[in-house]
Amino acid sequence: MEMMEAIFKRRSIRHFEDKAIPEPVLNSVLEAIQWSPSWANTQCWEIVVVKDTSVKERLQEAVGRNPASKAMVQAPVVLVFCYTKNRSGFYNAQESTILGDWGMFDLGIATQSAALAAHDAGLGTVVVGLFDHRKVSDILGVPAEMQVVSMLPLGYPARDGKAPPRRALADFVHTDRFSKE
Ligand SMILES: Cc1cc2nc3c(=O)[nH]c(=O)nc-3n(C[C@H](O)[C@H](O)[C@H](O)COP(=O)(O)O)c2cc1C
Repeated sequence: MEMMEAIFKRRSIRHFEDKAIPEPVLNSVLEAIQWSPSWANTQCWEIVVVKDTSVKERLQEAVGRNPASKAMVQAPVVLVFCYTKNRSGFYNAQESTILGDWGMFDLGIATQSAALAAHDAGLGTVVVGLFDHRKVSDILGVPAEMQVVSMLPLGYPARDGKAPPRRALADFVHTDRFSKE
């Protein structure tokens, strides 16, 4: 699949078939995370691969009212993205920039890598960010020095996603200097 086609055609998928993901395919998605760029190659990500239905059901409870609620249990696999705090964007334990911890940024890139690799393999994903993060940390036993950020239900799409509209390039691209008419 061409890269631009994958970027254009990837959609958030919230309905999944009852079909397992072969291990080599799941592995290719995890490898896409492994080879993502990160601040000074910090690779501060930690990924919890959830397959157990009872764990997925508990995660769904932590999600509550959310368009992706059903996806949390329908999907055969849910990837939970966490990062080690105070690593990315730090040098000698000091923040290198005014932006502080770059862990969220690194995870964002890793998440898109995973979503595109999944799409390339015929799988669908939806990024889930709206949930009770403390609850999910407790359910999964995530250590205090790590932050849970997002969850990514992963599976074979049962329905196509509809593309929400995008802002025009002219609306957000600025040449040489920030301009807003
Ligand atoms: C950081 C982030 C958090 C998101 N959280 C949720 C969520 O909690 N529930 C949900 O259904 N979709 C969530 N989404 C999916 C967005 O709604 C979706 O990406 C956006 O509407 C564009 O649609 P597309 O992915 O099909 O291009 C999230 C996406 C991102 C990037």
